[in-house]
Amino acid sequence: MSGFGLLRLPGEIRFGWGTRHAVPALAACYGTRVAFVVDPFLAQTDAFAQILATTGEHGAQTLVVTDVPPELPVDAVSACAERVRAFAPDVIVGVGGGSALDAAKLVALLISHPGPASRYYGENQVPGPVVPLIAVPTTAGTGSEVTPVAVVSDGSREVKVGISSPRLIPAIAVVDPELTIGAPPSVTAHAGIDAFVHAVESFTAAPLDVGAQSDLPVFVGRDILTDTLSLEAAALIFRALPRALEDPADRQAREDMARASLLAGMAFGSAGTHLSHAIQYPVGALTHTPHGLGTGTLLPYVLQACVPAIPDRLARLGSALGVASDGDVQSRAQAAVDAIADLCARIGLPRSLAELGDIAPERDRIIRLSLQARRLVGIAPVPADETIVGAIVDAALAGDRTLLAASPPASSPRPEDNA
Ligand SMILES: NC(=O)c1ccc[n+]([C@@H]2O[C@H](COP(=O)([O-])OP(=O)(O)OC[C@H]3O[C@@H](n4cnc5c(N)ncnc54)[C@H](O)[C@@H]3O)[C@@H](O)[C@H]2O)c1
Ligand SMILES: [Fe+2]
Repeated sequence: MSGFGLLRLPGEIRFGWGTRHAVPALAACYGTRVAFVVDPFLAQTDAFAQILATTGEHGAQTLVVTDVPPELPVDAVSACAERVRAFAPDVIVGVGGGSALDAAKLVALLISHPGPASRYYGENQVPGPVVPLIAVPTTAGTGSEVTPVAVVSDGSREVKVGISSPRLIPAIAVVDPELTIGAPPSVTAHAGIDAFVHAVESFTAAPLDVGAQSDLPVFVGRDILTDTLSLEAAALIFRALPRALEDPADRQAREDMARASLLAGMAFGSAGTHLSHAIQYPVGALTHTPHGLGTGTLLPYVLQACVPAIPDRLARLGSALGVASDGDVQSRAQAAVDAIADLCARIGLPRSLAELGDIAPERDRIIRLSLQARRLVGIAPVPADETIVGAIVDAALAGDRTLLAASPPASSPRPEDNA
């Protein structure tokens, strides 16, 4: 592996209990017109009322928009942006889970550059800076508070579509674990396992040979800077997620989850994610199930397919998780994948994709659409083709990892990939 490293991050990241109280003063640094894009549930809470009131006490005029529908239909986001544009804010504050933060990013984009949003689909299409955004997550979490991507649904597309650009990275992230305490169990489980998938997929993403390029892609694969973040995030979540579910008021578990989802976002915002995310896009579109439910269900199957190609890396992941076994590197890698499958089962994820919906008849379509997500399959640690993705989908539909373990897809590691 080369000594290349890349981290693109907000200018300031504040983490800790009570940090939300700094939001009004931070917003005041940008001007006196503050637009809040807020999750509709959070908008009704005392915590948000206090942030809003204090922002007013700082002399700011405020606008609050809460029409952030699930799945973020692009027309609804565009309508939201029209209201915010008329207010002409100096700064936008996004408060909520990944949906609200993604909506806030898109509003910042659409009030800064001409629409429609579709002209920015894909990578590196945002032509210049956007209105500054302060991102305040209330789930742990998507990591959207530090990442360069926002995801919308567009009726003219078969799957949700991403807008990825370093220009979308929030100016400031304020991560206060207190805000996540009220998240219901299903949100804690699905957002929490998605953060784990971000950590593991950024740790196992192929290192792209882009060090000498001046124009970098948005996601460049794993490197020596992201590895540290992703390993720490994976280890924290492995211990804390079951505890946060068993006792939602466990403050240490909530703090660990909030910190880990932030670290995972910092890692995958530069490294990227791969096959669990590529396959979740069509599965989510077909079953209308939450993003993290799909990525978490898929992860053990994706990793099983990666064992022959990157055993050293998976064994190293197992050591970080504290599940290293004796034996050769292949068996230590297998122990790591087995432990991750156990975690998924422990937090109540289904064993098979078929439990998310009657999608077996759509197998070929799922594979075709997964392979179209080039930014994701392009950094998979195995050369992702129809054979490998087909084998993963078949095993995940059957709920049987032994299908992959018994006859692993004919995969070879990418060059320099098994470190
Ligand atoms: N931009 C990125 O980097 C990125 C990464 C991963 C996922 N995503 C996107 O994020 C979205 C999922 O986000 P999410 O999992 O954070 O959930 P979410 O934002 O969709 O929220 C899910 C539900 O939880 C509720 N909720 C949120 N915080 C709460 C709290 N503290 N207390 C009580 N209820 C609360 C919301 O009201 C909502 O009903 C998907 O659209 C996914 O595509 C984005
Ligand atoms: Fe994700």
